[in-house]
Amino acid sequence: MEDEASLSGASPRRRPKTDVREVGGRKLKASTLMMGHGFDPALSEGALKPPIFLTSTFVFENAAAGKRHFEGVTGKRPGGSEGLVYSRFNGPNQEILEDRLSLWEDAEDALSFSSGMSAIATLFLTFVQPGDVIVHSGPLYAATETLIARILGKFGVSWLDFPAGATEGEIEGVLERAKAMGRVSLIYLESPANPTNALVDVEAVAAARAKLFTGDLPPIAIDNTFLGPLWARPIEQGADMSIYSLTKYAGGHSGVVGAKKFLDPMRSMRNTIGTITDPHTAWMLLRSLETLELRMTRAGENAAKVCAFFRDHPKIETVGYLGFLTEGRQADIYRRNCLGAGSTFSLYLKGGEREAFAFLDTLKIAKLAVSLGGTETLASAPAAMTHLSVPDERKQAMGITDNLVRISIGVEDADDLIADFDAALQAV
Ligand SMILES: Cc1ncc(COP(=O)(O)O)c(C=O)c1O
Repeated sequence: MEDEASLSGASPRRRPKTDVREVGGRKLKASTLMMGHGFDPALSEGALKPPIFLTSTFVFENAAAGKRHFEGVTGKRPGGSEGLVYSRFNGPNQEILEDRLSLWEDAEDALSFSSGMSAIATLFLTFVQPGDVIVHSGPLYAATETLIARILGKFGVSWLDFPAGATEGEIEGVLERAKAMGRVSLIYLESPANPTNALVDVEAVAAARAKLFTGDLPPIAIDNTFLGPLWARPIEQGADMSIYSLTKYAGGHSGVVGAKKFLDPMRSMRNTIGTITDPHTAWMLLRSLETLELRMTRAGENAAKVCAFFRDHPKIETVGYLGFLTEGRQADIYRRNCLGAGSTFSLYLKGGEREAFAFLDTLKIAKLAVSLGGTETLASAPAAMTHLSVPDERKQAMGITDNLVRISIGVEDADDLIADFDAALQAV
């Protein structure tokens, strides 16, 4: 039977052959599929790994194919372009990356971006209009808060937030107030929150939305940078889109995975404003994804050992490590929404900025730098660094205090890290 493409005069694009997704009835894991999914060596001279396609544009097989591809690019036909067109829209490296990214959360589709913030900005531009209200959890990564409150605010968008640990009833209350202010077009979450590690109950957010909205529901998007993709799969708890800053655990730039219905309009917006990943970065990310499970597993094991050391240390006030949650609402959310405790945590030292800085300045193995999820251990002071721009009262209310040090554990030897932290605490 002739398909639609051949009826329109466009020959179908040469696609990678369908790869093996199960063996002997066993569905293969994402960690296995990272080594080959979405790439067919036969399309690239037999190269085992995908080459980097450093080209700005792609040749059409005929004019009808070009037209058909542009129908996809411009959103005239949903689902994006079937063929490769121009590197602001798509490319082989980006497509393989997106195919592989979607596997970790069993998502319908994925889009990759040039950075976490370009993914988040593209999301807001896609779903939010002047007069709309964004409901979000707090705290958020500081640049996301700035984007909502200071930048979108200038374009007539308002927002209401609820604290990360809010109950279903409290979330309902905030959604109700937001509905009275205007059209609620997006519910935006971050869990665990940067930098406090507080968890959001995604199931409670989805239940509150179901109670208060009918018809076209406002999408729920969640920044899953801290635990994704190994230790949290928020799409299973009711989120529509899961966002990663891939400079973190995955090791590259950024991506959004989720339902096609929401990613199609985001793809059109990305095609217009050009926030796609470049081919070289996409290629680097493909390499990183091959070792993602290994790196995250080792980092998680290391963090458990390091946190056990910090837990009873006389100079430490509290360790905000998810693995220590045993009772209360946060522990309940942890059990329902998370598959692991992660390797990024908040450490509250006894004292204030002086003690936090003395600790940071003495570290020898851990690097004094912002970011998280790398192979190397990093430590920073959020109140003085990543969250400096957050107003003081909001910082206090959210627990972003001067004695807070955020630590992201890497894949070094755990006992070496403990020796480093021990020496740094002696200097406090
Ligand atoms: C939770 C979270 N979301 C988003 C971002 C932004 O990502 P990017 O730096 O890739 O723009 C960061 C960066 O640290 C982050 O920690």
